Amino acid sequence: MRTLVTDIAELVTNDADGPGLLGIVTDAALLIEDGRVRWAGPAAEAPVEAAGAAAAAERVSAGGGAVIPGFVDSHTHLVFAGDRSAEFAARMAGQPYTAGGIAATVAATRSASTADLEDNLVRLLRQAERSGTTTVEIKTGYGLSLDEELRALDIINRHTDESTLLAAHVVPPEYRDDPEGYVDLVVERIIPAAAGRARWVDAFCEVGAFTEAQAARVLTAGREHGMMPRLHANQLTASGALQLAARLGCASADHATFATEADLAALAAAGTVVTLLPGVEFSTRQPYPDARRYLAAGVILALATDCNPGSSFTSSMPFCIAVAVRDMHFTVEQAVWSATAGGAAALRRPDVGRLTAGARADFVILAAPSHRYLAYRPGVDLVRRVYRDGRLISAREDCP
Ligand code: NIG
Ligand code: FE
Repeated sequence: MRTLVTDIAELVTNDADGPGLLGIVTDAALLIEDGRVRWAGPAAEAPVEAAGAAAAAERVSAGGGAVIPGFVDSHTHLVFAGDRSAEFAARMAGQPYTAGGIAATVAATRSASTADLEDNLVRLLRQAERSGTTTVEIKTGYGLSLDEELRALDIINRHTDESTLLAAHVVPPEYRDDPEGYVDLVVERIIPAAAGRARWVDAFCEVGAFTEAQAARVLTAGREHGMMPRLHANQLTASGALQLAARLGCASADHATFATEADLAALAAAGTVVTLLPGVEFSTRQPYPDARRYLAAGVILALATDCNPGSSFTSSMPFCIAVAVRDMHFTVEQAVWSATAGGAAALRRPDVGRLTAGARADFVILAAPSHRYLAYRPGVDLVRRVYRDGRLISAREDCP
């Protein structure tokens, strides 16, 4: 099955050979075949072979809009129940964010039916898709027992390949006086049982959650059972967690709200992507990290939503791009790259986050002539159509 996308004012390919960071082609066309990009380039230069193939292709007009790769949201916590809007309102009235709020979601999640948890996850996934997300990583972490973490993984695995075991999110109430006992449970029982069912292992290394030594045990055990490590690091306090992530060869260190030059040097040397989460600083009134420092140190940056009911209840990557540009000092190009190719790097996924030959045909048609509008017109819905594997998954023909 072939689709030829025409009338593209600006095509963001993320081609590593350029031009520029985003590999932008103007007046472009895109040929899709069997769910993959077969050819991308200037419409006037479509090769004879592509033009011949195009003859038999379904034609889709981008209507003079920009086409960008689908967003790769490499950090979410979508398996949960309950409502923490009052906690958000209290924060906006001056209360600080602490890891303690997670316990409320754990209680609500444990008492929810699997059907209710899955309905909530699907609703959030659809929202994400409507705002242009085509690849989503989803973590467990509100179950915190053997059965509950496996239940969450089963739900996740029905909806994405990017499943993450975050059994080490916080110490559950029944282990309050014995955190090491809980780490033992994670390492000795939950991780072995999750082997083959989670692509990633993660831990929340923070005051009120897990120490560096505990996080290291969990990530090491996860790796021994075939899961690749990633880490929640330096969200609320400066610590050695970022350097731990580098030392353990994590694919990504996430949050990194606080980072020293030594942290950044270690991450750059290790090739560990740093995933910044603008929704968190927005929703917790924490200071925004300055992307310029991270980029100057040679760190690869991803942007993700961290969609969860506590610290960042947004599923919108365009929102995160706008905040990243305004408050984290990303350039618009860097923010769009980090929300697509950066997320793909954080998930070690060479097949997504780009629109060059061979990539998965995951793309978004914007109701705007340039990617710049994603930050230039904050809060305005500019996502007209979303395709995954070459198939239309969301359409809003009434987009202005
Ligand atoms: O990534 N940092 C830890 N976990 C989530 C927050 C979870 C919650 O508050 O429920 C995060 O921000
Ligand atoms: Fe998180």
